[in-house]
Amino acid sequence: MQEIERLKTELKAVNAEAGKIREVPVEKRAEFGRKINEKKQAILSKIAELDAEALDAEVEPLDVTAWSGVNEPMPELYPTLQGSKHPLMTELDRVIEIYQMMGFDVVESRQLDDEYHMFDSLNFPKDHPARDGYDTFRTEENLIPPAHTSTMQNRVLKKYKKNLDEGKAIAVVVPGRVYRNEDVDATHEHTFYQCEGVYVSKDCTMGDMLGILREFFEKYYEQKLNIRTQPGYFPFTEPSLEFMIEKPKSLGGKKGDFLEMLGCGMIHPNVLKMAGINPEEYHGFAWGGGIDRLVMLRYGLNDVRMFESGNLNFLREFNV
Ligand code: DAH
Repeated sequence: MQEIERLKTELKAVNAEAGKIREVPVEKRAEFGRKINEKKQAILSKIAELDAEALDAEVEPLDVTAWSGVNEPMPELYPTLQGSKHPLMTELDRVIEIYQMMGFDVVESRQLDDEYHMFDSLNFPKDHPARDGYDTFRTEENLIPPAHTSTMQNRVLKKYKKNLDEGKAIAVVVPGRVYRNEDVDATHEHTFYQCEGVYVSKDCTMGDMLGILREFFEKYYEQKLNIRTQPGYFPFTEPSLEFMIEKPKSLGGKKGDFLEMLGCGMIHPNVLKMAGINPEEYHGFAWGGGIDRLVMLRYGLNDVRMFESGNLNFLREFNV
């Protein structure tokens, strides 16, 4: 940058010249000052220009065409930045795919709902203790981050009611994230995933429901399974069942080792009525169960908290 140095010397000379203004006759001082100033500005702007060039030369240019990490293998420089799908989402995709193969539509659940959808439309009596059983969080506006995917039943029934008018069944699954205000331990999380199923037609039976559920679990665990049910209680189904599978040998189970996988039952006539469906004419069944638990059994995991932990060692085990 010799040029800058030369210009700086020139600038000094101009400044020195400016100091001689007193030697200039008064009437010529204005003209003298203007000329000196012009010279000075010309030098200064040249210096600024060269300075900027110097700065540019020092900064590494940005290569906007560089690798963006979407389709290409990761360069060695950034191995730790590689993201991947969360194992629960990969498994949820499998779950959905199995139901889709059986002809179910998919509707996503929501992250915030109201008292009507979470409880009233599901036949929970007003001020009934069963409402407390769900340990719901609430916002200041009294909205509820849903504690189960059943919160979508009324919407799904209303949305698909037209199927019945066209002589078809309603067959929908609803995956979603749910929230419960409970103490967290190895088997309880405040945030987890569920998948709901809703089926309505003129002549469906509990036998159809058990067939669908068996088919689902056998596809998901890729083997024949022993299933069992026991009576349960949910205000939105009558009768209600708890659905269990025998833990397969291949997954470390012993004979008689039954695990509860979901709640289910025949949709209560009041729930159909509240969605504008005539329970004298149509019947339905519904079920809902945790995805986390399903995945834990498949991979032999024993701590549900790993899913929400963001622990990279855990996550990488699923993405080798
Ligand atoms: N919503 C229930 C729960 O989270 C599970 C459930 C039970 C869903 C019975 C259903 C059902 O659709 O019919 O505990």
